[in-house]
Amino acid sequence: MARVLITGAAGGIGIELVRHYLAVGDEVIAVCRDPGPGLSALRCERVDDADLTRAQGIERVATAVAGRRLDLVIHNAGLLRRDDYASLASAGADIRAQFELNALAPLLLTAALDASLGEGSKLALISSRMGSVGDNSSGNYYGYRMSKAALNIAGRSLAINLRERGIAVALLHPGFVRTPMTAGAGDLDPAESARLLAQRIAALDLASSGRFWHARGEVLPW
Ligand SMILES: NC(=O)c1ccc[n+]([C@@H]2O[C@H](COP(=O)([O-])OP(=O)(O)OC[C@H]3O[C@@H](n4cnc5c(N)ncnc54)[C@H](OP(=O)(O)O)[C@@H]3O)[C@@H](O)[C@H]2O)c1
Repeated sequence: MARVLITGAAGGIGIELVRHYLAVGDEVIAVCRDPGPGLSALRCERVDDADLTRAQGIERVATAVAGRRLDLVIHNAGLLRRDDYASLASAGADIRAQFELNALAPLLLTAALDASLGEGSKLALISSRMGSVGDNSSGNYYGYRMSKAALNIAGRSLAINLRERGIAVALLHPGFVRTPMTAGAGDLDPAESARLLAQRIAALDLASSGRFWHARGEVLPW
C-alpha cells in the first residue's frame, strides 16, 4: 500500500485521483481548501483550509505529514484565468495568481515535504500542454501558458536534483478534461483522465524521470 498525497482534491480531476487511489487500496492524504460534500463523503485523511498560495497553507500540509514517508505526491491544484493580448493591461493580478498556484506552489510544497521523500518516491506535476512552447500555435492565455511553462522547467530541475536520491518526477498533461476549469468542455471525463494519469505515474521510473507526458502516453514537446 502506497501513501499518496493529492492537492486540489475537492473536485475536478483531483477528486477522481483520490477515488482512484482509494479504490486500489492506497492510503490517500487529500489536500484542499474546502472539501465540499464530494470529498467529505470519501473515507480518507484530509488537510483542509490549505490555500497553497499562502505560506500557512503549505505549512499545514507539511505539519500534517511530518514524520511519514510519501510514496507519491500529485501536485494537481491549478488555476486558469482567461486573458488575451487585448486584455493584458488589466491582467497582471490574474497572471500573478496563476504563477503563485501553478508554478510556485508545487515547488514550495515539494521543498516543505522534502523530509517525507526518499528512495522510490514519485512526484507528479499536473501541467498542461498549454505550457508547451513548441505546441503553442494559437497564442493568448498568457498567464496560464507562462505559469505552466514555469512549472515545466521547475519540474525538469527537480528531476535532475532529486535523481541521486532515487526520486522520479513527471510532468503530466491530463488531456482536455470536462471539469469546472473548462466549464465542462473537453474530450475526457475526469475519472478517465485520473485513470490515465495513474497509469503514467505507475510507469514512471528514474529512466523516464524529467519528461513531459500526455496522460495517454506520448512525450510532449517543451
Ligand atoms: N481540465 C483540463 O482540461 C485541464 C487541462 C490541462 C491541465 N489541467 C490541469 O489539471 C489540474 C486539475 O484541473 P481541473 O480541470 O480538475 O480544475 P478544477 O476543477 O478547477 O480544480 C482545480 C483545483 O485546484 C484547487 N485550487 C484552486 N486554487 C487553489 C489554491 N489557492 N490553493 C489550493 N488549491 C487550489 C481547487 O480548489 P477549490 O475547489 O477550493 O477551488 C480545485 O480543487 C490543474 O493543474 C489544471 O491546470 C486541466
